[in-house]
Amino acid sequence: MDKPVQQLQQSQQDILPENLGDNSFCRDLGIRYPYLGGSMAQGISSVQLSIALGKAGMLGFFGSAGLSPDTVETAVDQLQASGVPFGCNLIHSPQEPELESVLAELYIRKGVRLIEASAFLDITLPLVRYRLHGIHRSADGSITTPNQIVAKLSREELAEKFFSPPPEKLINALLQRGDITHEQATLAGQIPLANDITAEADSGGHTDKRPALALFPTIQSVSARAQHKYGYIKPLRVGLGGGIGTPQAAAAAFSMGAGWIMAGSIHQACIESGTSDIVRKLLNETRQADLAMAPAADMFEMGVTVQVAKRGTMFAMRAARLYELYRNHDSLESIPSAEREKLEKTIFLAPLDDIWHQTRSFFMQRDPRQAERAERDPKHRMALVFRWYLGQAAHWARKGVPDRAIDYQIWCGPAMGAFNEWVKGSFLETPSNRKAACVALNILEGAAAIIRSNISRFTGNNTASQQMKPEIKEYPA
Ligand SMILES: Cc1cc2nc3c(=O)[nH]c(=O)nc-3n(C[C@H](O)[C@H](O)[C@H](O)COP(=O)(O)O)c2cc1C
Repeated sequence: MDKPVQQLQQSQQDILPENLGDNSFCRDLGIRYPYLGGSMAQGISSVQLSIALGKAGMLGFFGSAGLSPDTVETAVDQLQASGVPFGCNLIHSPQEPELESVLAELYIRKGVRLIEASAFLDITLPLVRYRLHGIHRSADGSITTPNQIVAKLSREELAEKFFSPPPEKLINALLQRGDITHEQATLAGQIPLANDITAEADSGGHTDKRPALALFPTIQSVSARAQHKYGYIKPLRVGLGGGIGTPQAAAAAFSMGAGWIMAGSIHQACIESGTSDIVRKLLNETRQADLAMAPAADMFEMGVTVQVAKRGTMFAMRAARLYELYRNHDSLESIPSAEREKLEKTIFLAPLDDIWHQTRSFFMQRDPRQAERAERDPKHRMALVFRWYLGQAAHWARKGVPDRAIDYQIWCGPAMGAFNEWVKGSFLETPSNRKAACVALNILEGAAAIIRSNISRFTGNNTASQQMKPEIKEYPA
């Protein structure tokens, strides 16, 4: 055999799942494979899901959004006791800024070393506080930051902010509060707020619906520019999420240079996720086009939307109707009575006054200022009542409440349909067989096989990859 062919075969053998991404990223996170499980709100990315991924050499973010701090603390205890690498979500909460700060403090107090920062529109104090906690100069002169942020975003302006040192104004604020020392404030100017960004393309839940093929190179380019501008010792890194549901998608992400891949939708369909079996079954039947955008509960008034599954549920349509009414009326009282009756009969299944009383009691516990504001401001009261439906719709889905199936809010992206099509005819077609580690390993092994085959294809053997359909196996054996 001549030497180039031998070399080619050797390099093909080295294309293993663990080598597809950024080795330094895997080392820093203490994982074998460049594969992350994205945060999914209200514990849908559950403790069990993070442990399953962690045990298989990957990492899952616990989905803390929408949970009480006590529940998050219990989850952190369980994850820490499990001994696997894990991270937690820190989600931007413009409606409840205190919650963001409470969570950041909780993570600092519990020693959670890795967070996924998401939905941020700008850099906030709790974010910088988390990142700078414990920053110091090590004996060898390098700067050590015990707390690591993987920021998830889809806008280049935001990527620039995360890849820059924390804003001076916020560093000074922390200095004044006595949260950091002068020495730490000086060091803060020499590190990026986040060393790592997951570029998030069209995905389940909150999404800008950016196409991965356009988004990833852009964020990668922002990273290169920031690296050049600030000359960080430790290189900035970029991964890709959104749309990953097949080995082909993973191979494409790694071929573009993604340091890691991240999945969400397909993990919700796995047995370890914190949703109901009814939802898992619905997800199992979801195809590419069975999706819709619907108003988001957390940013309803701002007109922000989320991507949801629409097969078997009328949630997207009903929630859109509520948003339209919110836009067109100043109060619940100004909605025409026929329309109001229809809402009470079909969507709320109760008088709107009763729903307001329930909502009010909820907010009196959680955030009394919201309830007080709603007493004064009828439009805000309408928003809270409508948000009751949006919030409950996600809860009914997670709990599998049978008589509310028509209202399930199931966050989901096109990766789900792609996955379902890929696994058709295999054991992974059955919902109860969808174990997260097995799904992830099939995607990674499949991606490696496709890339190996592409090397043959790109070196003149055109037929190899056209036939390439990686075998679906029962990993871990
Ligand atoms: C059910 C569900 C809930 C989600 N909740 C959150 C969340 O609370 N915080 C967050 O950062 N991302 C959330 N996401 C986004 C995922 O973490 C991940 O970035 C995304 O699902 C990746 O795209 P994919 O759905 O195409 O796999 C959610 C996604 C899904 C499907």
